[in-house]
Amino acid sequence: MARTDGDRWDLASSVGSTATMVAAARAVASREPDPLIQDPYAAPLVRAVGLDFFTKVVDGQISFDDGDDSGAARLMTDVMAVRTRFFDDFFIEAARAGVRQAVILASGLDSRAYRLDWPAGSVVYEIDQPAVLEFKTTTMAAIGAAPAAQLRTVAVDLREDWPKALRDNGFDDTAATAWSAEGLLVYLPPDAQDRLFDNITALSAPGSRLATEYHPDAGASIGARTRALREQWAGHGFDVDVSELFYAGERTPPADYLAAVGWRVETRPRPEVFAGYGRRFDVTDDLAALRDSLALTAIKGDDR
Ligand SMILES: C[S@@+](CC[C@H](N)C(=O)[O-])C[C@H]1O[C@@H](n2cnc3c(N)ncnc32)[C@H](O)[C@@H]1O
Repeated sequence: MARTDGDRWDLASSVGSTATMVAAARAVASREPDPLIQDPYAAPLVRAVGLDFFTKVVDGQISFDDGDDSGAARLMTDVMAVRTRFFDDFFIEAARAGVRQAVILASGLDSRAYRLDWPAGSVVYEIDQPAVLEFKTTTMAAIGAAPAAQLRTVAVDLREDWPKALRDNGFDDTAATAWSAEGLLVYLPPDAQDRLFDNITALSAPGSRLATEYHPDAGASIGARTRALREQWAGHGFDVDVSELFYAGERTPPADYLAAVGWRVETRPRPEVFAGYGRRFDVTDDLAALRDSLALTAIKGDDR
């Protein structure tokens, strides 16, 4: 399923189905013994989407790992637990530092606007495609979930003029902002990734913060992992090769790009992030390249 300019999706198709996939992993991670995360909305959201395979996974009828010898499926739950916690902690830390405006880029089925302890006066913007936002907002209301901050959804494609859409919804570029780009970069063309960072930079008052994660090989090793899962999942009726949804091509490493435009950047390799949460990142040799994934946080300096 090749990507095209302006392609559209909902949560059951194309790139949208990856949001359902990662939410299913969050649901599974939330019910593990001694869980690193608690996302009570992940399972009901996934059920509401209605993709049979992921519904069965969140209902415990089948496991992501069934028939998987590669360790890739098991890893997905662990990676999602740690990744979710990393971004949760990023927003909590930014709020502690006084930041009251947050933008969740490519929000998918992310429930942070509903489940984090946002200080009074916080405004959270969620940006994603129209069908994705519409579905999540309606489903959350139907299950009785209320946002824990002032939530403003911005339905726009991140390859288009999203800064205008954000401003039109009340975004204040004189206030410091906490930005997250989680599970997003590989789904953007390389030049759109650079433009995304240009736009974030232009909209960021000093003291703004940014968190993202990426692999220096721009999706190649993640693609190898998802291909390993495809056959097994196709047997359960979910026949999407996630790696085919990635845009290929050389990418500027986000750490370098951001440092060059005035951000103080820190990166940590995935095993270190795992260790910070008392977890080991154990992978077979086939998946060893995944150790090189980086979690990035950055703070914007004064030179706007
Ligand atoms: C892997 S999911 C991640 C969702 C969420 N950040 C999370 O971690 O749960 C990818 C998300 O990126 C969104 N996305 C990808 N490309 C996009 C684009 N060009 N414009 C808007 N949203 C996009 C998809 O709709 C989907 O919700």
